[in-house]
Amino acid sequence: MRIRVSSWLVTMLVAASAIGLWTAPAARAEAPGVAPWEAQNPVKPLPAEPLGVTGKLLALPNPPTPETVRLGRWLYFDKRLSADGTLSCASCHKPENAFSETTPVSTGIRGQKGGRKAPSFVNQAWTLAPVFFWDGRAASLEDQALGPVANPIEMGNTHEAMLATLKGVKGYPGYFQEAFGRPEHHQGGSPRRSPTTSAPG
Ligand code: HEC
Repeated sequence: MRIRVSSWLVTMLVAASAIGLWTAPAARAEAPGVAPWEAQNPVKPLPAEPLGVTGKLLALPNPPTPETVRLGRWLYFDKRLSADGTLSCASCHKPENAFSETTPVSTGIRGQKGGRKAPSFVNQAWTLAPVFFWDGRAASLEDQALGPVANPIEMGNTHEAMLATLKGVKGYPGYFQEAFGRPEHHQGGSPRRSPTTSAPG
């Protein structure tokens, strides 16, 4: 179970933090036939690589697609990943604060204070040093991506409970299908290559 969810959590981070698409789903004019929530978070073509980066997005080990980025954006801002529905990743890694926060330490579930501040992760896909956390204790995003969901002073959930909650959300199977080719993600799944780069789902 741990390994199954790690892949899409990593996709969510690498895909979206890498390419600067991090604006919270925002109100847009509704297109006919498109669900209101979907109009707020459409499939968008992948942008060019950030200035100064020589690597290519599609050459990354876990390359983003427009569909995985959209799924990642849903998950990143979804408070239902936490045990009591109060915290999303964006509650601590705030887009408006360069994905960090203005307080010296994070505040997790039920107001609990942690010991450290949430680091920024802009362009994390091209990090110079392949170590994560302030003390470098994680060697890859895979090593740490599941941590916050089950950390009792962060999101306070279990991975099993989180998956059960997400499975009960009507919209998600379609977005997982679109991104990974099946309605929920399994170990070894890889993002499906988008047939076009621009067509909204
Ligand atoms: C309660 C606040 C909080 C929430 C919610 C939270 N984080 Fe964090 N995050 C932190 C803190 C604090 C650290 C630094 C911990 C350390 O260095 O020991 C961190 C570190 C990280 C890092 C390492 C970044 C680096 O450059 O080393 C990543 C990646 C990350 N979090 C992703 C996530 C994801 C994905 C979610 C949602 C599933 C999430 N976080 C939810 C507080 C939070």
